[in-house]
Amino acid sequence: MKFKLNNGYEIPAIGYGTWQAVDEELEKGLEKALEIGYRHIDTAAIYFNEHIIGKVLKNWISSGKVKREDLYIVTKLPFHAVRGSSVEKMIKKSLKNLQLDYLDMYLVHGPFSFIDGDEFLPKDENGKIIMDLDTDHVTLWKAMEDQVDAGRTRSIGLSNFNEKQIDKILSVARIPPANLQIELHLYLQQKSLVNWCKSANILITSYSSLGTAATMKKFGKNVSSFLENDDIIKISEKYKKTPAQVALRFLVQNNIVVIPKSVNENRIKENFQITDFELSDNDMKIIANLDKGEEGRLLLFEEHFPGIKNHPEYPFSV
Ligand SMILES: NC(=O)c1ccc[n+]([C@@H]2O[C@H](COP(=O)([O-])OP(=O)(O)OC[C@H]3O[C@@H](n4cnc5c(N)ncnc54)[C@H](OP(=O)(O)O)[C@@H]3O)[C@@H](O)[C@H]2O)c1
Repeated sequence: MKFKLNNGYEIPAIGYGTWQAVDEELEKGLEKALEIGYRHIDTAAIYFNEHIIGKVLKNWISSGKVKREDLYIVTKLPFHAVRGSSVEKMIKKSLKNLQLDYLDMYLVHGPFSFIDGDEFLPKDENGKIIMDLDTDHVTLWKAMEDQVDAGRTRSIGLSNFNEKQIDKILSVARIPPANLQIELHLYLQQKSLVNWCKSANILITSYSSLGTAATMKKFGKNVSSFLENDDIIKISEKYKKTPAQVALRFLVQNNIVVIPKSVNENRIKENFQITDFELSDNDMKIIANLDKGEEGRLLLFEEHFPGIKNHPEYPFSV
């Protein structure tokens, strides 16, 4: 199953997420994912795992098990490089790590920037992120467009930008963003942003579609998971599917790309098997009603990047 982007390229609707997956665990997980049929892989420079993905892809491509053109590889410009003058250097680094000549999609990881330098997470003595407050989305986007011209990436897009920030980029763009990657799941459905992007012809990718369990645990959060919601359990029993499959199916049925992360073979398989059933209109409505709006947001950037709420381009209301 594929979706069409505004530049004519197609993107597989189900991708393999890799945040918090490293070393041998990722290597094995990715091998399995490719065997199962995943062709779209989502990573980021700040996940520090591009080199592992590169190693696996190199083996698959050089042994003829997969052709480069059948893969869809996404990576992201890290936060300390969100400025025009850093883009070329960072995309070249990612390509080198991934052992690729070109990317399918290069995303700006977020709308705010940290100070320039070698540190991905520059912090002061109080543990606060050292921010670059002069973030300029106009020169940034021009440099992103230059990467398409140079053939380093086929498409460019954004992640974690809000509507106002995307609108500003659209007003100056020669190449409009093809994709927006945001936190989106049953408890944070982002209906207004999704509809606005639809009218602007920007395809949405959902991250944390399963509720990013690992992150919640890490921050000691006692958030009840929508995978345990009574309606979701009932619906999943009806279709003889798991709650995770229902959660992912709901999104792809709404033309939203999903990139579930798993390093467990059974769950990697399970997350890919969502194209052999269709949720009824009534079940789609029941699930749409589970939305909690901003209250449902799980990934709070302030927890990862202390002090970031004070950045002039901090995108969220919470
Ligand atoms: N652009 C951004 O700022 C951003 C932010 C966050 C994430 N992302 C991307 O989006 C991807 C997905 O988001 P995410 O990693 O936050 O979370 P997620 O995919 O919603 O959830 C991953 C967690 O759920 C577990 N899991 C996987 N499949 C499951 C299943 N079928 N049933 C129950 N639990 C399951 C995983 O554990 P096991 O591995 O043990 O299965 C892991 O703990 C990331 O890996 C990354 O590529 C992007």
